[in-house]
Amino acid sequence: MTSLPLRDSVPTGVAVSADRDPGWGLEDRVVLVAGAAGGIGSAVVGALLSAGARVAAVDLAGPALDRLRASAPGERCAVIAHDLVEIEAHGSLIDTVEGSLGPLWGLVHVAAILRRRPSVDDVTADDWDRQSEVNLRSAFFLSRAAGRAMIRTGRGGRIVTFASNAAWTGGLQGSVAYAASKGGVVSMTRGLARTYGPHGITVNSVAPGEVDTPMFWEGMDDATYQGMLRQIPLGRLARPQEVASVVVFLLSEHASYITAAALNVSGGFQTY
Ligand SMILES: NC(=O)c1ccc[n+]([C@@H]2O[C@H](COP(=O)([O-])OP(=O)(O)OC[C@H]3O[C@@H](n4cnc5c(N)ncnc54)[C@H](O)[C@@H]3O)[C@@H](O)[C@H]2O)c1
Repeated sequence: MTSLPLRDSVPTGVAVSADRDPGWGLEDRVVLVAGAAGGIGSAVVGALLSAGARVAAVDLAGPALDRLRASAPGERCAVIAHDLVEIEAHGSLIDTVEGSLGPLWGLVHVAAILRRRPSVDDVTADDWDRQSEVNLRSAFFLSRAAGRAMIRTGRGGRIVTFASNAAWTGGLQGSVAYAASKGGVVSMTRGLARTYGPHGITVNSVAPGEVDTPMFWEGMDDATYQGMLRQIPLGRLARPQEVASVVVFLLSEHASYITAAALNVSGGFQTY
């Protein structure tokens, strides 16, 4: 009987390697974080800097971005004020990032707005448009601009978008417009993964459940909060750092064969 030859990738022994730390492969890689001054965004910036990456931290001008600028190490972190709704400026934003930090390896689009209305009858056309514009439209156009830059560089890359638990639940009452924008992010992410896969670019979304950030507490009342806690098997909100570490994983070499996925980071609230 003949046996097939072992391929190089088939392990033939235990290899103990010092380079498989959680941020494996991110040293000096350039990552743009859009929505960097928020609860999860600032945790992502911190986690990426800890992993040795060079970070472009992008958000709206304001006190939160000023605080980020004051605390970030200048030589490895460029803090840039930019309204992501201005999609015509996405190409020049990427050029600015590459000019100051180097070729783009990763994009994390974490920016979003949530308008929790008491009921569907309270949702206005402006609510629908603004949430779609920031959460979905800007995510598509910035991902496409990043994809073009990564293809130009020819070294592959990583794109991470932000969905939500709400994409599966449909949201609560008047947050249906937000939920719909996040459902769109999941579909868009799958489509971009199929488009960019042949270029070695992975595209995944992270779908948090309930995270202790300013967004979570927006329009939240105690009864709703207690009801949510009862549905989370882990019995608590996530800390922003617990979501940031998933983003670092997706950007790292550890996740080189994951694409088109939506990662469930809901403490067991969702079971897909
Ligand atoms: N906090 C939660 O419980 C939760 C749950 C599920 C999903 N998410 C998702 O996680 C991501 C991060 O949420 P968070 O809780 O950190 O929210 P956050 O409100 O703390 O941060 C969002 C950031 O996006 C920025 N932003 C909004 N509009 C922008 C624009 N036009 N241009 C540039 N920046 C803009 C804001 O300034 C803010 O810094 C979002 O996509 C959100 O939908 C959060």
